Amino acid sequence: MGQSPKVLPVGMSGMDRMKTRSANELREMFLSYFEGKGCRRYPSFPLVPDDPTLMFTVAGMVPFKPYFLGLRTPEVTRAVTSQKCIRTNDIENVGRTARHHTFFEMLGNFSFGDYFKKEIIPWAWTFLTEHIGLDPDRMYATIYLDDDEAHGFWKSFVGLPDERIIRLGDDDNYWAAGPTGPCGPCSEIIYDQGPEFSCGKPDCGVGCSCDRYLEIWNLVFMQFSRNEEGVLTPLPKRNIDTGMGLERLSSVVQRVKGDFETDLFRPVIDRACELAGIKYGDSEKGDLSVRVISDHLRASAFMTADGVLPSNDGPGYVLRRLIRRSVRYGRIIGIERPFLAGLLPVVNGIMGGEYRELIEQKSTIEQIISLEEERFLHTLVQGTDILDDEIARIKRSGAGSFSGELAFLLYDTYGFPPELTEEIASEAGVSVARADFDREMDRQRKRARASSKQASASMTKNVFTELADKYGATPFDGYDTDRVSAEVVAIVADGTLKREAGEGEEALVALSRTPFYAERGGQVGDKGLLSCGETRFEVSDTTRPSGDLVIHSGRVTAGKLTVGMTVDAAIDVERRDAIRRHHTATHLLHEALCRVLGPHVRQAGSLVSPDFLRFDYNHFAPLTREQIDEAERIICGQVLADKPVTTLVMNYNDARKPGVKALFGEKYGDVVRVLDIEGFSTELCGGTHVSATGRIGLVKILRDESIGAGVRRTTAVAGAAALAVFQENADFARSVCEALETDPLAAMTKLKALQEENKSFLRRNRELALSDMLSSAGEILKKGVRIGDILLVAASFKGASRDMLRRIGDRLKQMEKDSVLMLAGIEGDAASLICMASDSAVKRGVHAGDLIREISSIIGGSGGGKPSMGQGGGGEISRLAEALASAEKILRGQTGDSKNQ
Ligand code: SER
Repeated sequence: MGQSPKVLPVGMSGMDRMKTRSANELREMFLSYFEGKGCRRYPSFPLVPDDPTLMFTVAGMVPFKPYFLGLRTPEVTRAVTSQKCIRTNDIENVGRTARHHTFFEMLGNFSFGDYFKKEIIPWAWTFLTEHIGLDPDRMYATIYLDDDEAHGFWKSFVGLPDERIIRLGDDDNYWAAGPTGPCGPCSEIIYDQGPEFSCGKPDCGVGCSCDRYLEIWNLVFMQFSRNEEGVLTPLPKRNIDTGMGLERLSSVVQRVKGDFETDLFRPVIDRACELAGIKYGDSEKGDLSVRVISDHLRASAFMTADGVLPSNDGPGYVLRRLIRRSVRYGRIIGIERPFLAGLLPVVNGIMGGEYRELIEQKSTIEQIISLEEERFLHTLVQGTDILDDEIARIKRSGAGSFSGELAFLLYDTYGFPPELTEEIASEAGVSVARADFDREMDRQRKRARASSKQASASMTKNVFTELADKYGATPFDGYDTDRVSAEVVAIVADGTLKREAGEGEEALVALSRTPFYAERGGQVGDKGLLSCGETRFEVSDTTRPSGDLVIHSGRVTAGKLTVGMTVDAAIDVERRDAIRRHHTATHLLHEALCRVLGPHVRQAGSLVSPDFLRFDYNHFAPLTREQIDEAERIICGQVLADKPVTTLVMNYNDARKPGVKALFGEKYGDVVRVLDIEGFSTELCGGTHVSATGRIGLVKILRDESIGAGVRRTTAVAGAAALAVFQENADFARSVCEALETDPLAAMTKLKALQEENKSFLRRNRELALSDMLSSAGEILKKGVRIGDILLVAASFKGASRDMLRRIGDRLKQMEKDSVLMLAGIEGDAASLICMASDSAVKRGVHAGDLIREISSIIGGSGGGKPSMGQGGGGEISRLAEALASAEKILRGQTGDSKNQ
């Protein structure tokens, strides 16, 4: 086992008052303290925020941004959270410093136009000094340059002397979540850890970045919003946003040197050391590696629990990098086998009490992380060799940088994230030609783009962007009706706006409103007809090329379509009904799979068409027949129960309740549609559905297959398409019965009897063939060649198995005692070889095994054996005759008999 956390020498009066508390206790103390101040306690929001400006939740305030900005009305004005956060700007520093992390927890309390400086300053002080027990004499406060108000509260309410209230500028005391959005001046609480933590520089003091004067809590007075030009506008109300890193607070309270020594990390570090057989504290390299692993694994587990899957872009790419970095650091300390899953129970032991998702999705997390680990391990060795060779070459030559093309190859073929290559190279003092790498990457993207049909979409993009700007979202009536009267507002042909489209012309049409559903959320676009008098425009697809502008693509089949014309827009109802059935069936399937396989099942994509549905989800093992049958039973049970299907339109925040399914990564608007299948499933969905499950009629799962690491795809059919499948199956069964000349009940028995019969015919056939071959033994011997007193027989037999060859060999041996028998059997497009040499031949120097090795290699195979017996084979039967002919020469070589060569 590893050591317990290092306890610093304590000669510190105030410190002695502080009880050592676990991080879990500290988190709970914070949450309940602010609950006592009237704050609503929210569970942590997901790591991937519903915010297009951010890839990850980087602070406790992120989920509350719309409230600060006054865009949404909060349900309460006071809140408290311990928020899961990820920051990735400094990955390379993780483990090298005492305080850098990718994943961390931010303890935060918030006021939306409610309490402000006067309240939060004394509350924060009381919490740290009286509840946690930090030494008030070691505490400082920093404030923004001109914030006299905050100065006043620190001085008069808290009693901090002037010299411990420090005014700092924009860099230190002005906080913003990003270049735009809510921001404001802040006040930070600093804790003096004592001179033994100091960097020793003469000017080390409050504001120094070393570990002595540690910023532990940031109180932000959120008062402004910054726009793209950098202009600040006062927010509708004055708000509070505070943030305190739980890791940092724990390290101060537990009196340990750095966050990695706290009970949040040490057990993981100790277990990693145990796996590697090293001791923490023995070497800088080892310590760094286990610290990195403890950080990255925590982050990976939480990201995976929140639905992120390893991939090549977005959050998934960060996850991939973290897992691959962990694997690499594992190898540095000598762990060569997959090990990450072995550490996860330790992470769960520390964090699983507060974050149940780690426990509920334990096996999913384990499998996703292990799979990614194994994938990387697969190519890591080869990739590392290439990397090391290149670094060595550069160092030998003494100049140049690591080739960008090679870095790209490592990325593309061996899965080395370019940042990892850069990091490994920089450890050896070598830089990577990143511009060349980026150029290669760009080329590859272009190649991919050129080969996709997106090219034409981007050509016409400008027209659609303009139309979307001008007309906004096309009102959609298709939830309630199948036809409406609408005005043609635009016609696009060949990428430009037109006034009209004549008979036979293809065009893209925008209407003033539409019942046509435009492809989204997996549901395909509608087909149908736009008509006006003689004019007919057949709609073959409906899409949304820009925003919510709906475009009907198709062809004028009669008359002329003109802008301003009022048309009767009618969808193909039968087709849409089939789509509705498949869409509601997809919801039934989603819930059924959750029930059969477990709550980890999450939708990864779908396709809903009139003919079939495809549902992609995460799960790791192939489904058993029983599981598929069970899912079908559940689905059809709901169909038979004819459950009402209703849609509620509500506020996004009201909809996000436990049990309501939403598609991970999907950006939903403020107002969402929630589809409810009574008593069975509730899911956010903008698609079109049947009004009761009975209308689906029938559902049949056709197949379930793997489509990538941990992702599976179920294909199913509903309604008439399901009936067609049953009919096809029945037709097939009927024709099988007809061919077997029996009825379905007796078909299987008859089939088995036929198989048996066939087997015995085959057996009999072989015996006949063998007896033919054996009867020709005399002839075969006659064709043998004498080498000294040994007879060499080299012969091949069509259709002879190895076993048959052996029996032919035995017969020949009986007939000719002093022999070498080189026999080949040809079955299909491969030959098997055996060679038998008599004792007398062996005495003369014959080695059957060696002989057969040479012969086999001529026919592209391998073989070998003992002096008296060898066997082999090969696939190039066109060279068999040549190979057998060479037996004589080889044999003469073996026996030293060179006569007659
Ligand atoms: N948003 C501030 C921070 O991240 C305080 O919560 O520091």
